[in-house]
Amino acid sequence: MVSTTTFLFAALAAVVSAAPGCAPPVTFTLPKIGGGTELVAPAANLVLKKIAIGHGIQNYTCGTTTDDAKATGAVAVLYDATGLYPGTKKTGLKQREWDSAPSTLLWHSPLPLNKLVGSKYGADLANPFPDPAADLSCPGLPAAKYMGHHFFDSQGTPVFELPAVGLAAVVGKVDGITAPASADKGIIDTGAVAWLQLDDNLSGKSKGVTSVYRVVTAGGAAQPCSVAGAGVQSVPYATYYWFFG
Ligand SMILES: *[C@@H]1O[C@H](CO)[C@@H](O)[C@H](O)[C@H]1NC(C)=O
Ligand SMILES: *[C@@H]1O[C@H](CO)[C@@H](O)[C@H](O)[C@H]1NC(C)=O
Repeated sequence: MVSTTTFLFAALAAVVSAAPGCAPPVTFTLPKIGGGTELVAPAANLVLKKIAIGHGIQNYTCGTTTDDAKATGAVAVLYDATGLYPGTKKTGLKQREWDSAPSTLLWHSPLPLNKLVGSKYGADLANPFPDPAADLSCPGLPAAKYMGHHFFDSQGTPVFELPAVGLAAVVGKVDGITAPASADKGIIDTGAVAWLQLDDNLSGKSKGVTSVYRVVTAGGAAQPCSVAGAGVQSVPYATYYWFFG
């Protein structure tokens, strides 16, 4: 669908010009926190490629119980949410449903990862992703197609592999802002992880993606080391990832 339409960007808004006689144009607007510092808008020459809704875990380590938990990465499965964007003919969600979809996914669907035996939310270290991958089927949400997955490679670089839509992103963090106070604090009530801008790290491994925005996060923040204890912790989260290229 996206390949046959034209995306135009003006500040934070993108206008899709559908072919004549088709549905009215959909305006994609990157969410804002409101009332504070926002992420910088995608570069004017970029177009929206896809919006994914992702579900997985954020990992942290604690050396001792007095440390600050250190983020060590994440693994998540991504589904194509582009067609669920409000205003999309037939398949678009109501704005309220769209805004709460990451929270709905977090609470109403089991983690789509191979479990680490003996751990509550951990995923199998060597083999976290089920194969074959399943499409999204979550009570309270429409079905959505499997798009790919997100993980950190052996060098600690965030990677998005999106074979189902022919995209890939190997990125680095350029900006992050605290999630809004109203964000879903998640399954273990630790809070929502920051909203982020992640840009292509110029390793030549990205395909069709220059910037990735993580917005409308639900859960994922670390437990304090005084509570979690020393060692690794995995915290469930869900979010949108907006891919621009
Ligand atoms: C996160 O921890 C899980 C185990 O819970 C593991 O499967 C995964 O590889 C870890 N990922 C990163 C990036 O640390
Ligand atoms: C980009 O990611 C690749 C893959 O992990 C890594 O080899 C490279 O060092 C990274 N480049 C930068 C500038 O971080």
